[in-house]
Amino acid sequence: PDQPMIAPSILSADFANLAAEADAVRGSDWLHVDVMDAHFVPNLTLGLPIVESLLKATDIPLDCHLMIEDPKRWAPPYAEAGARNVTFHAEATNDPVSVAKDIRAAGALAGLSIKPGTDLEPYLEILREFDTLLVMSVEPGFGGQSFMPEVLDKVRTIRTRIDSGDLRLLVEIDGGINADTIAEAAEAGVDCFVAGSAVYGADDPAVAVEKLRAQALA
Ligand code: DX5
Ligand code: ZN
Repeated sequence: PDQPMIAPSILSADFANLAAEADAVRGSDWLHVDVMDAHFVPNLTLGLPIVESLLKATDIPLDCHLMIEDPKRWAPPYAEAGARNVTFHAEATNDPVSVAKDIRAAGALAGLSIKPGTDLEPYLEILREFDTLLVMSVEPGFGGQSFMPEVLDKVRTIRTRIDSGDLRLLVEIDGGINADTIAEAAEAGVDCFVAGSAVYGADDPAVAVEKLRAQALA
């Protein structure tokens, strides 16, 4: 992308007013939707029926982040429904390539996510099967946690591979992104910034999105 992408996370929005909350961040590149199953992470959020409703309620492309077990079974329907990008966790499957193939075959971009403690190295060889890499900068499960700057080494590694022409991939970061942390993440080579509390906790979420974009450029 020629400018930083901002993906507000509806995890910090009002779940009883999702259409209005999507409208409140018009101008965003993607709308980030955190799907949690109370097994892969100790929290439960929303699933396919709500994603289907959200697709009808907004023109912003949906970035579905599946923090769930058994993505082979559960991920492709999000792509079939019309999500732009469907990301699942490397830690949740023994065969990430086959899940990525299913997602792409269903018409979405395929994303791989890794938790803060998961090394990137074992996955470098399979990343050509993916369109996005989501580097978690907090333990997945909850919004409003503090950014873990040590994960930026993984961002720098993947950015070097991309810049050398080895890989074509969008680099996303998720967790603790705000006015104080976005610049260092941008400098490490992130393309797309997920932000929940920093956007929906602001007085005007749309203004917060544009401020974050400007701070990523600074
Ligand atoms: C956490 C989710 C994030 C969360 C980020 O497991 O994946 O997308 O919404 O929230 P903030 O930006 O508040 O850290
Ligand atoms: Zn997320």
